[in-house]
Amino acid sequence: MKQGVFITFEGNDGAGKTTACLGVKDKLEQMGYSVIYTREPGGSKIAESIREILLDVNNTAMDGRTEALLYAASRRQHLVDIVLPALEKKQIVLCDRFLDSSLAYQGHARGIGMEEVYKINEFAIHNCMPIKTFFYSVSMETGQKRMNIRGDKNRLDLEQNDFHKKVREGYEMLIKTYPERIHVIDAEPSKEEVIEETLYQVLKVIKEYE
Ligand code: TYD
Repeated sequence: MKQGVFITFEGNDGAGKTTACLGVKDKLEQMGYSVIYTREPGGSKIAESIREILLDVNNTAMDGRTEALLYAASRRQHLVDIVLPALEKKQIVLCDRFLDSSLAYQGHARGIGMEEVYKINEFAIHNCMPIKTFFYSVSMETGQKRMNIRGDKNRLDLEQNDFHKKVREGYEMLIKTYPERIHVIDAEPSKEEVIEETLYQVLKVIKEYE
């Protein structure tokens, strides 16, 4: 690769982006690419400690702005520990959630406002934006079903349906605002089909940097 390639994966809880992301990572490795899979919040030691606070089901009293700041702090640490070094080594970085999650969840669904949340994240990411973002689109029903199969719900998963609808609304606003960067993938079909489609789209992105 001529340079590192930073790609992010987004979607509502239960959309299946993690499965797609991991499936594509395996396939890219089989093709000989140097690729890492990582996730937010967390992904490195300090960032994982922040993740524990964020997703602890006992932290029901957490203020929305505190939540936004903690996600941004975790993002910063993860960027410095994992993403930037990998990009420096010209690797392909597949990151499960990034800035758009904060804009959709904290900015829109929590009602803080996307611009406000963008501001603190600008400070956190310091110009490091993904080249491409894939958004996994499923109906609310499919999302719920997949979340139930997974079991083991975190603090955000336990939010009511209205919250998850707002998250979806937030993502739709982002898709309209960044049509060049955000590519929507229909995640209703089978796992295998979604992985194949993602691989096809990821390869299109990578080709430009080979
Ligand atoms: P996780 O178990 O990793 O969920 P998923 O597999 O769906 O990514 O939990 C991450 C949760 O944190 C998820 O509900 C989305 C939420 N989140 C935010 O609210 N803001 C953010 O900036 C990020 C990165 C995640």
